[in-house]
Amino acid sequence: MKSFTLSLIALLYLSVAAAAQTPEPKSAAPLKAIAVLHPTEGDKVSGTVTFTEEADGVRVQADISGLTPGKHGFHVHEFGDCSAADLASAGGHFNPTNKPHAGPDAAERHVGDMGNVEADASGAAKLDYVDHEISLANDQRSVVGRSVIVHAKADDLKSQPAGDSGARIACGVIGLAKSQ
Ligand code: CU
Ligand code: ZN
Repeated sequence: MKSFTLSLIALLYLSVAAAAQTPEPKSAAPLKAIAVLHPTEGDKVSGTVTFTEEADGVRVQADISGLTPGKHGFHVHEFGDCSAADLASAGGHFNPTNKPHAGPDAAERHVGDMGNVEADASGAAKLDYVDHEISLANDQRSVVGRSVIVHAKADDLKSQPAGDSGARIACGVIGLAKSQ
């Protein structure tokens, strides 16, 4: 009888321990973030940039208007601070791995190097690609809380430290978005 009681207690203990260890059901929805772009004084660039976790990277989708036709440098900058008139408050290109400036497909690049967006004759630009350096998770490469900046000129993908892409004309802070 004593051993039966002990077994019962052991069984109870085990089931309580198992219940405590059962992980909470994890949301299947991938992390998603968004930057809403605001213009600097004297231009009217606006748009959104979304970042969505996928199996092999983070999908970047930009929908921007009010640009001059042609290519415009497009980067994640270190700080989520769009407050300065010249957007210097956003800091340099987000570069947590201390690599040289390059394009999004280069083996070595700033994590923030997303290359260019290209506007059509009406000033609208769309971009959709999967980035393999950017992260939304809680790690060194996370772009959440940083900023997206659009430049006046094209990024040549090689000049240091920022691709010679000229003035900063629009900025948006990257924040978490509702995923679905
Ligand atoms: Cu930039
Ligand atoms: Zn760069």
